Amino acid sequence: MEDKNESTQVSFTIFILKETAAHEHRVAASPETVKKYTSLGAKVLIEKGAGTAASFTDKAFKEAGADISENRDEALAQADIVLCVQGTAEIAGHMKKGAILIGLLSPYDNKDLIQKAQDQGVTAISMEIVPRVTRAQAMDVLSSQANLAGYKAVLDAAEHYPKAFPMMMTAAGTVPSAKVFVMGAGVAGLQAIATAKRLGAIVSATDVRPAAKEQVQSLGGSFVAVEDEEFKEAETAGGYAKEMSEEYKKKQAALIEETIAKQDIVITTALIPGRPAPKLVSEAMVKSMKPGSVIVDLAAPNGGNCELTKADKTVQKHGVTIIGHSNTASRLAESASALYAKNLYNLVELITDKETKDISIDWEDEIIKGVALTKDGQIIHPQFGGAKETQDKDAA
Ligand code: NAI
Repeated sequence: MEDKNESTQVSFTIFILKETAAHEHRVAASPETVKKYTSLGAKVLIEKGAGTAASFTDKAFKEAGADISENRDEALAQADIVLCVQGTAEIAGHMKKGAILIGLLSPYDNKDLIQKAQDQGVTAISMEIVPRVTRAQAMDVLSSQANLAGYKAVLDAAEHYPKAFPMMMTAAGTVPSAKVFVMGAGVAGLQAIATAKRLGAIVSATDVRPAAKEQVQSLGGSFVAVEDEEFKEAETAGGYAKEMSEEYKKKQAALIEETIAKQDIVITTALIPGRPAPKLVSEAMVKSMKPGSVIVDLAAPNGGNCELTKADKTVQKHGVTIIGHSNTASRLAESASALYAKNLYNLVELITDKETKDISIDWEDEIIKGVALTKDGQIIHPQFGGAKETQDKDAA
């Protein structure tokens, strides 16, 4: 990886791709992170127009120290590190042996990518599976993106809701506060609660994790849940929800049915890693809502929490508007990109040696063990086909 130019020593090349997936407006670097990469000792190449949809111009990237590439395949073949938002097998297939692909690689669904990275001898690093340990918080893309999505979900609801959110007392009469119910009080749900409160709504929320109760209440929301013995156990060591029993689901559905009939807006965010989203809102529940009510289903990309959600569509059913954007964070492309780019930078910093200004991976680091899918033509992650001895207890 030796490549010197006259003034600074450049040890490795980073290439940032222009995204090609539908509804994807984000980019994996910002001018701020490009500057930081050059300080780390990297030569930065960025595909022409990569940041346009996120309001980052080629000019801004150039001023930050990047070279603009008009030949994607050539740059992919040359790069030591490739940064992307949505990884594909096609990207891995154009990379050189030993190079590192970092992005949202969808390891639960995208077996082709893992296979291609293995065949090609590429190290695939999947940002969705950054372990939830304190040291890795600055790399946690699920959190940075879910936070923005939770905020945007409330704005989407407000746009389609035919009434005001806050209570308004005027000479012409009183408009009551909107009632907002948030299902799933993780990162997105908590931000949705905070945003809906700021807009003046009356907010309640549900979750299957007991720890969520206090968090919901601390944001001024009321907590709705079947708090039985199973509920008290329903959190993995990684902080994620577990799949609940059929019996719990039945009790939960009865409580949710009663709650939803009284709501104006329902925002669903419930997810279980690696599984389809739990179906929490049935057609009968939608029917029970008042005309003009709105459901925003942030779980749409994982199959949706509502039975009637259509991915990437806004539909009207039984007088209720159901919004199912599959990439809500991307709809705040500049903010989402800036945070995502920073998450990636923090990971790249971890795999770089400041002294030698070169790539240096500590394969024993728990963060690297958590995110690396392949290495030297092998699948190394136990959850995705690698050797089992380091099996994560949360994976069960
Ligand atoms: P997520 O995106 O996997 O799921 C969203 C929410 O849906 C979760 O709160 C989950 O419990 C809930 N859910 C799942 N099934 C449900 C059901 N049937 N009914 C109702 N709710 C259901 O979760 P997310 O947002 O990634 O957060 C999970 C936890 O991890 C949170 O406690 C969060 O604060 C924590 N966290 C910890 C970090 C760390 O570094 N220590 C970093 C980020 C989050």
